[in-house]
Amino acid sequence: MKGADILLGLQWGDEGKGKIVDVLTRDYDVVARFQGGPNAGHTLEFEGIKHVLHTIPSGIFHAKAVNIVGNGVVIDPVIFMREIDKLTPMGVHCADCLRISRKAHLILPTHRLLDAASEAAKGKNKIGSTLKGIGPTYMDKTGRNGLRVGDVELPDFMERYDALKSKHLQMMDGAEHAFDLAAAETEWHAAMDRLKSLPLADTDVLIQEAYRAGKRILAEGAQGTMLDVDFGTYPFVTSSTTTAAGACTGLGLAPNRIGEVIGIFKAYCTRVGSGPFPTELDNDLGEEIRQKGHEFGSTTGRPRRTGWLDLVALKYAVEVNGVTQLMMMKADVLSGLESLDVCTAYRYRGEEVSHLPYRLDSNLLEPVYQSLPGWSEDLTGVRHTKDLPATLESYVRFIEDYTGVPVVLVSVGPDREQTLWRR
Ligand code: IMP
Repeated sequence: MKGADILLGLQWGDEGKGKIVDVLTRDYDVVARFQGGPNAGHTLEFEGIKHVLHTIPSGIFHAKAVNIVGNGVVIDPVIFMREIDKLTPMGVHCADCLRISRKAHLILPTHRLLDAASEAAKGKNKIGSTLKGIGPTYMDKTGRNGLRVGDVELPDFMERYDALKSKHLQMMDGAEHAFDLAAAETEWHAAMDRLKSLPLADTDVLIQEAYRAGKRILAEGAQGTMLDVDFGTYPFVTSSTTTAAGACTGLGLAPNRIGEVIGIFKAYCTRVGSGPFPTELDNDLGEEIRQKGHEFGSTTGRPRRTGWLDLVALKYAVEVNGVTQLMMMKADVLSGLESLDVCTAYRYRGEEVSHLPYRLDSNLLEPVYQSLPGWSEDLTGVRHTKDLPATLESYVRFIEDYTGVPVVLVSVGPDREQTLWRR
């Protein structure tokens, strides 16, 4: 058993990673977010209460785990402090159990302005960004202009802030501002003042020390493989590496220290924002799944697009990430459907292919489905795998045969209790 495991989403995000990290945390000493930022919304439910985390790792509710916000994450201090303020009354003492990387990049109010301007300029080709400033912040990081959390400890922090802000305003070149910048800046600086009193750390070193001390580390991904900046449905993707490689660069974790790669997927597919979605159900059935699965963005509230399970894309995600264990979420949402289609190949430019082609545009590609029997039983009260319907078991076996990876867990509801281990 190696010291570090990775948990990530295999579809277009919103697979239910937050719930699983929360369930698994009792087995880990360290939980570390490695990429993304407040565009993510990880939902956890227990004891009848629902919590949505955006930047803080989902291990935060377990007192024993140290939670790390890694160097690959981008932080909006205003959203971050709001998250902290919601956790404090619940008895979560972030000063004790949270460590924030000095190397994580900061999202400035002007990054959000640039995000809005960029989307507006794209017109009907817009990405459907969450408009949290994610893309412009990663652009400044790779462009070597960014402001990092650790800069707040430097005497010239304000000058650095002003220089970056001026650069952004120049880029906007008189374009209309999406919000009141002066008010946003006041709030931002107040939040920065509070953020700097939290434990900032060289978290790459912390991770390495934890590994050497034999601690168990869980690297928590955000978004999903199909939103990866390299391997997703580019350009309709986010701006970070959402795949397993991102855990190495986003935490300072060497690849040979990684043990299990746990891949989370839903029993169907969803996508929020624009871009290709081969198995989309743009019809009444799609709407039924959306309502039953409460498929509305936890960060933006936008309705998620819904569709059948895409095994071609899932297998691709398994390969890109080196997934060793699969976990299937939201099986309960499909109850009541007589049959379920699963996409097993694509017809691409007239030919049947079982790999993910360069482009997934609907005018080039059509899904090829196999129909499997559904299940009618309400699964939300099931607590043992032996009580799952036989047709659900066949559905899971079909996925295992196709991907070559075991499905170790089936989730039948949002609560910690609604989690069934198959192995
Ligand atoms: P951005 O990362 O906010 O710029 O958004 C880029 C694309 O990724 C958009 O289609 C978003 O809807 C999508 N996206 C970003 N974060 C998430 C997430 O946590 N879940 C699902 N989709 C996301």
